Amino acid sequence: MQIKDREFEIFLNEQEIQSAIKLLATEINKEYQGREVIFVGVMNGAFMFVADLLKNIEFQCEVSFVKLTSYEGVETSGTVHELIGLVNDLYDKHVIILEDIVDTGLTLDKVFSMIDSDTPSSLEVACLLYKPTAFKGNHPPKYVGIEIPDHFVVGYGLDYMEYGRNTKDIYKLK
Ligand code: IMP
Repeated sequence: MQIKDREFEIFLNEQEIQSAIKLLATEINKEYQGREVIFVGVMNGAFMFVADLLKNIEFQCEVSFVKLTSYEGVETSGTVHELIGLVNDLYDKHVIILEDIVDTGLTLDKVFSMIDSDTPSSLEVACLLYKPTAFKGNHPPKYVGIEIPDHFVVGYGLDYMEYGRNTKDIYKLK
């Protein structure tokens, strides 16, 4: 698949992605049943993951979004900017941050700093993809769908220069 100047090849198919999401949902359903939970999706990349995970969550819950940006093309810029913050009251709630992919972990550190002062009952991270070898943050994800090597990937919400988000499968840079 060609996106702008780069060639991508299939990496994870729809079935692999959906079964990883179902396993994550089963774990979260078990641990959070009966609690006051708010899921906080990190835009833009997490929109498909949030939609598919939430279809498999079996308890009443809130869902909200924050918007942050750090990537420029295929490289992280190292600085995370907050574009849209949270307006929800998180006091005494169990917060689960939903990330499409955890790479360096800098975005998560920023989200934690936005949320921690609101004194939630608990604060954890669920992500679809995790690149452990690239991670250098302070808040490793507790719930991980699929661990991947340090490849640049697109599709299923993830972009290359804002393109390539609208696919059911995930592709990696050739
Ligand atoms: P981190 O702050 O380095 O953990 O990166 C988190 C954000 O960078 C993710 O939410 C994505 O938006 C973006 N990102 C990281 N790795 C990739 C990738 O391989 N493809 C596309 N976007 C990525």
